[in-house]
Amino acid sequence: MVRRNVTELRAGMVLAEDVMTPGGRFLMPKGTTLDPGHLKSLLAWNLPTVAVNQADGEGAFPSASGPGAPPAAAPGPDLAEAAEAAVRERLLWLDLEHEAGQVLFRLALEREIRRRVTVQEAGGAGEVHGLGQERPERTDRPNRSDEAAPPPLASPEALLRDEPQLVSPPEVYLRINEVLRDPKSTVEDAAASIRYDPSLAAKLLRLVNSSYYARTMRAVEGRFPAKVDSLSRAVMVVGARQLATLALGVSVLPLFQDIPPHWVNMRVFWEHSVGCAVAAQAIAAASGRGNPETAFVAGLLHDIGRILAFKQAPAHMAAAMRQAAAERLPLSFAERGRLGFDHAALGGHLLQKWQFPANLEKMVRYHHDLDEPLFIEEPAVIHLADGVATALGWGGSGNRHVGALSPAAWEALGLSGDALARMVPAMEARLAETMRSFFPDRPGPL
Ligand SMILES: [Fe+2]
Ligand SMILES: [Fe+2]
Repeated sequence: MVRRNVTELRAGMVLAEDVMTPGGRFLMPKGTTLDPGHLKSLLAWNLPTVAVNQADGEGAFPSASGPGAPPAAAPGPDLAEAAEAAVRERLLWLDLEHEAGQVLFRLALEREIRRRVTVQEAGGAGEVHGLGQERPERTDRPNRSDEAAPPPLASPEALLRDEPQLVSPPEVYLRINEVLRDPKSTVEDAAASIRYDPSLAAKLLRLVNSSYYARTMRAVEGRFPAKVDSLSRAVMVVGARQLATLALGVSVLPLFQDIPPHWVNMRVFWEHSVGCAVAAQAIAAASGRGNPETAFVAGLLHDIGRILAFKQAPAHMAAAMRQAAAERLPLSFAERGRLGFDHAALGGHLLQKWQFPANLEKMVRYHHDLDEPLFIEEPAVIHLADGVATALGWGGSGNRHVGALSPAAWEALGLSGDALARMVPAMEARLAETMRSFFPDRPGPL
């Protein structure tokens, strides 16, 4: 072990001791392999020296900033203090003694510091509107303190009854679902059902051409061209059922694009959803729990119940948001009291009504309720992915506090904190890429 000045640290070095802030607060655990984000955090705290392993070296730690990128000029301690206060508030309900809480705290703090440094470097006036950044929701939502909270609703069914648009999903959805449910369906059936909707087909081709699938294509080099330019080839790369599952999720998105703007900005909402989707896909692939494409779609749709609630029960949701803000609660807690059920139960109910695959529906329905041990593994993927997306401030769906992470879910996934941390830069890159494919030029319809 050697002690090094913080300015001498480089990406790839490994911490030989836990790092604490000058005020005695925990910052990073022993054994952390430093990446450029860690280096910025350490600089931000103006720590004199840090203990690293003697046999340390320049590493190839994956990072959004690039391996071995030189650290930026140290931000002042005020910025770091403010970033930590914001992250502590967002992660109020996380157990920071637990490995999962520790890793999310570290990742969130690094990202928050980077975000604030970017804003500062841009002149410090207001925000820099980049992808994945937290933007304030509009504050003109109903918020009269004298407004009486209505009594809770009887059931999710009561809330769906008055939404004729949702009684039946789009025609293309029905065709794809038919293919998915028929074990005798062929590759050509899957492609034909998707081809029926050219804009859906175009979105799927963009998704399949993303970097995530580039690896698959490289693995079968020689059999596929560099770019997947037809649905039949897409089916061969992703698999017929997986492509049909992706198509199922993407086909219903246009039904959920008219969130009343006084609740939450639509792009911010979808950024949260896509963030959860890419995280879920990566977590499913790394943990081997659930199919990655199913996890992607479940992530994409995990909070659609909240859109329904905003639209169909605005007075209840206004009361829930007031309570969540006043008592610093995760919004799903307050929903259960005010609506009688949370957005996850509502979203699950809708997906069940539409006959989505049962495992996909359960991933959505139980993403905040991990008490049912019989099928914890697949909902655990969305539970953790939502925690990552919310902790790191990738968009937002109206919730300001990450809900407590279930230790049983963490255990069911079998991931280590370091493994999760190593996955995050690739998730962020894929979030940016997928948002560009859904919103090619500017905020607009999905
Ligand atoms: Fe949720
Ligand atoms: Fe969420």
